[in-house]
Amino acid sequence: MSAAAKPLDGTEPSGPDASSKAPSRAGEAPPAVPTHIGIIMDGNGRWAAARGQPRVMGHRAGAEAVRRTIEAAARAGVGWLTLFAFSSENWHRPADEVRDLTGLMRMYLRSEVGALAKEGIRLRVIGERERFGPETVRAIAAAESATAAGTRLNLNVAVSYGGRGEIVAAAREVARRVAAGTLDANSLDEATFGRLLSTSGMPDPDLIIRTSGEQRISNFLLWQSAYAEFVFQDVLWPDYDQEHLTAAIAEFARRERRYGLRLA
Ligand code: IPE
Ligand code: IPE
Ligand code: MG
Repeated sequence: MSAAAKPLDGTEPSGPDASSKAPSRAGEAPPAVPTHIGIIMDGNGRWAAARGQPRVMGHRAGAEAVRRTIEAAARAGVGWLTLFAFSSENWHRPADEVRDLTGLMRMYLRSEVGALAKEGIRLRVIGERERFGPETVRAIAAAESATAAGTRLNLNVAVSYGGRGEIVAAAREVARRVAAGTLDANSLDEATFGRLLSTSGMPDPDLIIRTSGEQRISNFLLWQSAYAEFVFQDVLWPDYDQEHLTAAIAEFARRERRYGLRLA
């Protein structure tokens, strides 16, 4: 992302800073609907295997679930939705699966861009998009600009994304600026560092959902999820629908968020 080009002089509007906001929010009843939901969409392969089908069929069905979930999130009044579609580690899967996933992604971008724009959904892609090659990079850029006016829901799709890689890239940029004399190392704080990440200017996720029964983060939004609530749902991603999202949001609303403080 272009975060690296942004000035580190503190003049730009500061992004959300969970640590500084935490004390005033601790103990407050959480809003019924999270501002930002992140979803680790897992279980496509197992869904296909259970039907005796090739994995690609699971990924195709997963794309349908993406459609349903975006619409459900917009209807629920969620402001931000970040979908983990392809991790930096997923490059190490067999070449035919990587090819299938890349092809599906491109097809999805092209077929959905009109509907997204019409529905007021603003799409952004985070992660190392360049690794997918020029055709995909073009499709991503076209989808981002065609949906740029959307205000109903901010949709991030994380592709070739890894939380550790993102943090290292930001650290590299810090080192560069310190070496160039444009940043004083002692003035670096969490808000400044956060603005060097691909989620610069976006609120941190309040709720992270993972489907398929696995209970791990798999390198998703490591920095941003410091105080997120986690909900693990025992449903394979291609079966995900509005009811599952509603249930996850209801579970979120029951949580007591403390941000390290004492409530009594
Ligand atoms: C999630 O489904 C999609 C991606 C990670 C690209 P998987 O492909 O991981 O499906 P399982 O976990 O093998 O069932
Ligand atoms: C995480 O799922 C990545 C995405 C959902 C895109 P994986 O299936 O790749 O994660 P692991 O291998 O189970 O940790
Ligand atoms: Mg998986």
